[in-house]
Formats: sequence, C-alpha cells, structure tokens
Amino acid sequence: ITGMDRRPAARPAPEQVAPLPSPPRTMRALRARRDELRSRITEGSREATQRQHRLGKRTARERLALLLDEGSFVELDMYRRGAGGGGVHTDGVVAGSGTVDGRRVFVYAQDFTISGGSLGAAHAAKIHKVMDLALANGAPVVALNDSGGARIQEGVMALDGYGGIFSRQVAASGVIPQISVVLGPCAGGAAYSPALADFTFMVRETAQMYLTGPDVVAAVSGERVTHAELGGADVHGTRSGVASFVHDDEESCLADVRYLLSLLPANNLEPPPPVEFAEDDPARPRLPDIVPVEPNQPYDMRAVLAEVVDDGEFLEVHEGWAGNVLCALGRVGGEVVGVVGNQPLVLAGVLDTAASQKAARFVRFCDAFNIPLVTLVDVPGFLPGTEQEYGGAIRHGAKLLYAYCEASVPRVQVILRKAYGGAYIVMDSRSIGCDVSLAWPTNEIAVMGAEAAVNVVHRKELAAAADPAELRAALISRYTAELMHPYYAAERGLVDDVIDPAETRAAIMRALAMLRDKRKRPPARKHGNVPL
Ligand code: HXC
Repeated sequence: ITGMDRRPAARPAPEQVAPLPSPPRTMRALRARRDELRSRITEGSREATQRQHRLGKRTARERLALLLDEGSFVELDMYRRGAGGGGVHTDGVVAGSGTVDGRRVFVYAQDFTISGGSLGAAHAAKIHKVMDLALANGAPVVALNDSGGARIQEGVMALDGYGGIFSRQVAASGVIPQISVVLGPCAGGAAYSPALADFTFMVRETAQMYLTGPDVVAAVSGERVTHAELGGADVHGTRSGVASFVHDDEESCLADVRYLLSLLPANNLEPPPPVEFAEDDPARPRLPDIVPVEPNQPYDMRAVLAEVVDDGEFLEVHEGWAGNVLCALGRVGGEVVGVVGNQPLVLAGVLDTAASQKAARFVRFCDAFNIPLVTLVDVPGFLPGTEQEYGGAIRHGAKLLYAYCEASVPRVQVILRKAYGGAYIVMDSRSIGCDVSLAWPTNEIAVMGAEAAVNVVHRKELAAAADPAELRAALISRYTAELMHPYYAAERGLVDDVIDPAETRAAIMRALAMLRDKRKRPPARKHGNVPL
C-alpha cells in the first residue's frame, strides 16, 4: 500500500497563473513586466502564506533566507510551470544555489503553498537539475521537504520524478554530502529521499514522515495512531533512528544545518575545512576526575568528549536514539574529527542492534568524507537476550565491524576502562585496523570480566572447594593482576601507549598529526557486500 489517506479537493488555481497583459514594446515596459512577474512569483499567494504561517511553518523562501548567507541565493527555473506549462510558476519548489559561511551549496525547498508542495514532473525536473549541478560542482545538497507527496493529477510522471531523485541520491552517495530537512509532511515513497540522505533533520509538531498514513494504518490493521505518533520528529529521533537531528523550531534547525555544513567537506576529494586554533596547553587536568576507576560506575561520555574537542564543542548525531553509543562531529586542534564513544550512562554502554547501526552508518559517513575517527572505548560487551538475537544483533554488529574494517581514514582508539570480548574488537581495535591505540591506566582489555572468567575457567575447582567464596576471591584477584591491565596488551603490541588521562587530548592531537597524510587504497572490486 502506498499513498496517504486524504485526497485533496479541487480548488481554484492560485492567482499567479493569470497571464499578465501584453505590455507596449518599450524597454521600460518590458522590464517593468518582468519585474512584476518576478515579484508575483516570489511573493506568492498571500492567503496561502498566511495559512502556512498559521500552521507554524515558514515559506520556502523564508527558510532559504535562514539557511543561506544573505543575498547569496541564485534561483534557477523560477518561471518553470507544471503540467505542460499550464500550472503555477516554480511548480511548487524553489531551487538553486547559495553559500553557507561562504561555501557553495545546492538547495531546493518545496513550497507547500503551491499544490501542497506536491511533486509533479516539472517540480522533479528542477530538483534533478540542482542535484546534477551539485554533483558536477562537488558541493553539498540540502533538501527542504514540505510536500503532500506525488502530485496525484500527474500520475506516473510524478512517480518517475521521485525515481529520478532517488537514483541521483544513490549516485551522489559518498561523493557529496546530502542533507535532508523535513519541515512538513513527507509521506509515502517520498520518505525515501530523507532516508537516502546522509543526515536528516526534523522539526517537532510540524514534520511527519511515514510510508502509509494513520487512516490507511487503521483500515489495514485496526491500529489507531495520530500523525505524530506514527511519524513525528520524536518518533524518528528516538525510536526508528530515521531522523539524525530533532529540533523544536525551524530557526534552530536551520542554524544547526549551517553548523553541520561547517564541519563537512564539499565532496569526497576534499578534507573537511580546518579552522585556526591556537592553544597554549592541551592538558586536561579535570579529565581523570570525570571517569571513575571502578569499571561499573557510570559517567557521561559527553563530559569526556567535551574535554577532548576544541572549546568543548561538538555536534551529536542521533542524540535521542541508541544513546548507549555516542556519535559526534567536532574539532581537535582545528581539524574535524568524527568521534564514536560508548556511553556508560545508558545501558552501561553495551552495544546493541540500534547502537551498532547508528555507529556503523556514522563511521561509513566519516570514512567516505575524509573525516578521521577517534573511538573512545568503555564497553562491557553486547546486550544479551532473545530480543537482541531475534532482532539480528549479529547482523547489525557485523555492520559496525565491517564499517571499521573498511575505513581508510586516520583512526585513533582510546580505551578508557573496560573493553571486553567481541565488543573490544568491534570498537576499532588494533586487529581491525586502528592506526594508533592508546589506553588509560584504568584500562581492562579482556575476553570477559574477572568474575565471569573465573566462573568459567575454574568451575570444577570452585565446585570442589571447601570455601568457594575464598577461592573465587583469590582467583579473581590473580586473574585481574595477570590480565586486566593495559600493560598486557601494550607488551604484545595491541596498545601503542599507556597515557595519563589528563594527556588524552594532547595524545590524540599528536596521533592525528602523525596520520595526516595517511593514504590507503582498497583493492579494486565492484563493491563489498556490507551486511545490511
Ligand atoms: C496534488 C496535493 C497533494 C498531492 C496536497 N495537495 N497533496 N495536490 N497531489 N499529493 C494540495 C491540496 O489539494 C491543496 O490544494 C493543498 O495541496 C494543500 O493541501 P491540504 O490538504 O489543504 O493541506 P493540509 O490540510 O495541511 O494537509 C496536508 C496533507 C494532505 C496531509 C499533505 O494534503 C494530504 O493528505 N494530501 C495527499 C497526500 C497523498 O496522498 N500523497 C500521495 C502520497 S503517495 P489547494 O489547491 O486546495 O490549495 C506518494 C508516492 C510517492 O507520494 C512514491 C515515490 C516512490
């Protein structure tokens, strides 16, 4: 089943369709006619604009003004009309290019005030043109979505238009950054466009994304849900993981799109833009106090990250989803890095299906766009249980493993405390290709924790012991002393250095400087077969 539930009623076409009277053939009159037509197109219907504002939404042009540097927008295809030229100018999408902090981006903003921003053939052709230009120029694409979906009156031509967008997105994937901003309805197959983007933003209250609307859901399964419950920003920001960023309003949302763009390269052949960063002393004396020595005591990995990155500033991706892993973009010494960290505050920082998917996608993005990876490890293992196993924990964990194994960007691993079992391997261990591995003195790399290990290895002796508790305590302390410290791994070349926690930022800076010119080309193949 595709499509939404409400069929639009026929209404008179908006006023800008009415032809202008033929002017006398003088330069002045022709220029005046052109100016009048342009202002009618750009101003749009007052009534529809008011309705858009009443819905708590800005118009396409107001949004572009917030997103782009002032005066930088170059519009393309303003006069384009839909359905054989009989439709409304722009055909419900404002498309073109502008700059963000002086850097080129290509943009399109669907205009809900014209046929609900629905996508017909001309609307789609404008988007295709902008995407083709973005790819040819090696610049990011930002899509502002606010649309009733495929324009019903144009039938299969609308569907064909969507197919052209999807195929271009896939062709541009890993070549130019693609950002999708959902600011209104985005339903049916249209939702695949944000899903194919690298990052998707949504605004609470006004944005919705679903494949089938609430009425269809009720008709098919009897389940009753509201639009927001089915596909609101919070649903996609916390449960499905479709939205990478969720905002309360369009202003803060578009401000964060600008911030994100400031951290990304224009394309896969460029490094992310560095900024000047002068600092007297990279030591972080507070860092050792943030992390408790006891391996099972929680702390906020964000607090560690804030001590590692420049000015304590970072942009967290998927903040509300799979909180047991932290993925963020920030800068170290002025250079952009992607940070993946276990989060002991949520589920003790275990890896589960959602965390594996979240981190895998982030690692692949960073690798595609030349963003070095810093991995902050404090992981007790994988989340056990039937729900996880039935949900494909192995398959999803393999995604993260695959993503790290494939990543050719500089990779620095910092193991703060525990790193047990398969989760240690997956979190960018030396064995899967990290370039520099650093460990804190609190580090414990092992197949499993001391108690569990003693129970497995010494089961028979413990069962036969006169005082099992005493024997267990002795065995645990022997196991801990022999294996559970960073020097065991360091002596065997799996850890390059055991660092003072206060030196973490400085050590990461040194490692990244050493790896700046890293080049690693994968062997030729059509493509790998990442476990999807
Ligand atoms: C043509 C559409 C339209 C559509 C909205 N409009 N959606 N016109 N095709 N898909 C028009 C309405 O006729 C109306 O025009 C104007 O947009 C505003 O719509 P309203 O219904 O008045 O707005 P609102 O009450 O805010 O409701 C918004 C809406 C609703 C929830 C999006 O319009 C709706 O349900 N539309 C139908 C959605 C749908 O079924 N789309 C197809 C999905 S399938 P006037 O002229 O009166 O202002 C699909 C497949 C894609 O997209 C497949 C890709 C692979």
